[in-house]
Amino acid sequence: MTDSSTARDLSSMPYEPPPRWRPPVALPTPRPQDAEAEAPTQVVDYKPVDFEPLDHDAVDSPAAENPPALIEKLGPTGRVLPHFPAPPLLTSHGPARVIALCNQKGGVGKTTAAINLGAAIAEHGRRVLLVDFDPQGSLSVGLGVAPHELDLSVYNLLLQRDVTLAEVVRPTRVPGMDLVPANIDLSAAEMQLVNEVAREQVLQSVLRPAMNTYDVILIDCQPSLGLLTINALTAAHGVIVPMECEFFALRGLAMLTETIDKVQQRLNPDLRIEGILATMYDARTIHTREVLTRVVERFGDAVFHTVINRTIRFPETTVAGEPITTYDTGSAGAAAFRQLAAEVLARGALVGAGAAQ
Ligand SMILES: Nc1ncnc2c1ncn2[C@@H]1O[C@H](COP(=O)(O)OP(=O)(O)OP(=O)(O)O)[C@@H](O)[C@H]1O
Ligand SMILES: [Mg+2]
Repeated sequence: MTDSSTARDLSSMPYEPPPRWRPPVALPTPRPQDAEAEAPTQVVDYKPVDFEPLDHDAVDSPAAENPPALIEKLGPTGRVLPHFPAPPLLTSHGPARVIALCNQKGGVGKTTAAINLGAAIAEHGRRVLLVDFDPQGSLSVGLGVAPHELDLSVYNLLLQRDVTLAEVVRPTRVPGMDLVPANIDLSAAEMQLVNEVAREQVLQSVLRPAMNTYDVILIDCQPSLGLLTINALTAAHGVIVPMECEFFALRGLAMLTETIDKVQQRLNPDLRIEGILATMYDARTIHTREVLTRVVERFGDAVFHTVINRTIRFPETTVAGEPITTYDTGSAGAAAFRQLAAEVLARGALVGAGAAQ
């Protein structure tokens, strides 16, 4: 039974908050108006205190046991994500660093990486030449060129001495990025090159006139380790190996590194692996994460910190015939390729002779 006099008594009592809700710093007692006139100096030292709101989710999660700063810097490869500085401005162009995008496994993202890495590097004021070295012509299609309508392609450049690089190169819609296109004709080159003198060095020799015009030349290889790919590896300073994060990728990498070693020993001693690029990464699947962990265990720092997530945006860009950096410039995919460009440039490979000091 409630007594109305008891209710009145309780409401007249001063409110005392429970101890756990007390602010951590003692606040000054409210000043009675009359006391202010008598002792004005008593309140001068008071400063308002900002209270950190408590993140209750963080308290319950295991992450709260670790320093948050460290967790934020860990990248998807499980290593601390370094800062990639903005590359220096160039005051002149060349000599070019030639990079082959190579993996004998099909559909791993070689062409996607060539187009988008090229476009992201071009955004840094580098002159980029993309060489389509796959008879499928996917790189050309991905940049809005119809391969069957080509008068001249990389095939003519390789096998006709009277065709010059300048005749075959065409600009793309990306400022600073040009293309040597390819089409199905190139499939015949594999057989025809067999009879050439120094058959492994033909691409290297036809690209020589471009070396002082461009800062970076990216060669998009076909999914095989045949003579065309050997030509690309002989012409290249470095290899980027795009790799889909799934089990068979590991076996394929062993075969590819063996081929790279052979080319290094017999044809191109300066060839090095620029980096292994994890593509079509989906952090939600345990399998993807496990494969990436195994690749990092095996290849260490050769694995790029940047990984490319699986997203429908990439197939869409192929249909649109342009890189993701212009098709959806604010997307996560565009940001990933910009970070990859910065990482590739930060590895010191692509600074070029024209870098401003
Ligand atoms: N990160 C990604 N997320 C989703 N789809 C992707 C991604 N990267 C590439 N793709 C798609 O996967 C397919 C294969 O990609 P791509 O052509 O780049 O591979 P490739 O290694 O060059 O293939 P090939 O060996 O046939 O030359 C394409 O349809 C492409 O749009
Ligand atoms: Mg391809």
